[in-house]
Amino acid sequence: MKNEVLLSIPIEKSATSKITNVDFENLTFGSIFTDHMFVCDYKDGAWQTPQIVPYGPIELEPSARVFHYGQAVFEGMKAYKDEEDQIWLFRPDENFKRINKSSKRLAIPEFPEEFFFQGMKTLLQLEKDWIKKGIGNSLYIRPFVIATQGSVLASPANEYRFMIICSPAQAYYGGEVRVKIAEHYSRAASGGVGAAKAAGNYAAQFYPTNLAKEEGYQQVIWTDADTHEYLEEAGTMNVFFRIGDTLITAPNDDKILDGVTRKSVIAVAERNGIKVEVRRIKVDEIVKAVKDGKLKEIFGSGTAAVINPILGFGYKGEKFELPKIENSYANLFKETITKIQHNEAEDPYGWRYKV
Ligand code: COI
Repeated sequence: MKNEVLLSIPIEKSATSKITNVDFENLTFGSIFTDHMFVCDYKDGAWQTPQIVPYGPIELEPSARVFHYGQAVFEGMKAYKDEEDQIWLFRPDENFKRINKSSKRLAIPEFPEEFFFQGMKTLLQLEKDWIKKGIGNSLYIRPFVIATQGSVLASPANEYRFMIICSPAQAYYGGEVRVKIAEHYSRAASGGVGAAKAAGNYAAQFYPTNLAKEEGYQQVIWTDADTHEYLEEAGTMNVFFRIGDTLITAPNDDKILDGVTRKSVIAVAERNGIKVEVRRIKVDEIVKAVKDGKLKEIFGSGTAAVINPILGFGYKGEKFELPKIENSYANLFKETITKIQHNEAEDPYGWRYKV
């Protein structure tokens, strides 16, 4: 990861700011964006000079390939402000590696490291007033790449746009979360794009998630496409199960997103002496454990959601509730990770990155 200033990004400043109209105490996730955005185009076989411009609509050909073939990938990151007004990112090198891994899978040219870090740092410095202090507050950062070439030929584009937009954030899920375990629909197939943060992975979940919502659930936990016997991940989160005192999560493969919060949870668990098993988990194992009273917790992890307890689940027409728990693992991980993110605790892992 490059830390030194190597590149100066041209900035076109917005004439006005929207910030005074924003109610930072009552934010709906991902609905308000800051005053500027980072833009970098790919053409003639190279990424061109990046720039920062006022946030606003962009013009694209209706034939741009992103609209027709979904050639688009993205990342989710957060910036935090500590009590001394210093700005921090959390493991941004992981997001950088992952967006290029996703790009590669979608035949999108990889983005230069220097542009990514320098672009992000310059943008965050410009938008620093949008980052509010205090645990629970952050600036959600959305880097993404789209295929902009105008042509409906079904092959990789030769023009792209890489952008970064930012949105002040509080909690992703407002209330309690219960999930439906998928029995029919699936999120990812072996050899597919499940491990990539491809835009279409999310669109494909909307319809089955709507059906689950009609039944009173907030999310779906996906199962393997072949047998629907093994648990994979939820719509916006990786998932952890606590049976007895053991923490279990599915392994990363080509179907499951290599979540940054997921790998942080595993590291914190191991450092705290908690037994972690990264292995395939059968739905039947979870159903049996809940019936036997051994399933103590389920929680999701993700950048947007942080750590989100899952209070119950539905499977094959049955609804299961988890017992209330004191000293939950979910709380331990949430507190440990958010304190590191906000520079309120030691960071023995070296995860914090100063902007
Ligand atoms: C994130 O946690 O950053 C995600 O990408 C989930 C998103 C779809 C809100």
